[in-house]
Amino acid sequence: MTEPKIFDKKPSRVTLEPGTYHWCACGLSTNQPFCSGAHKGTGITPLAFTIEEKKEVWLCNCKHSANKPFCDGTHKTL
Ligand code: FES
Repeated sequence: MTEPKIFDKKPSRVTLEPGTYHWCACGLSTNQPFCSGAHKGTGITPLAFTIEEKKEVWLCNCKHSANKPFCDGTHKTL
């Protein structure tokens, strides 16, 4: 698997507490937009990111954003 699977062509709006998160990069997770371990064997690994203070973010679900793990509007071109 070289290209991620498009999970959804719209992002998830989530409010995150401070901490480290693992964003699903392969598109196969059953816990979108976060990793569920489903990437095993795909060659694609999740992306860890840290939130310093509680905030609302838009996380990419198409898995093609140029600003992963955040949505940058790329989903509109797929
Ligand atoms: Fe991927 Fe918007 S959902 S760029």
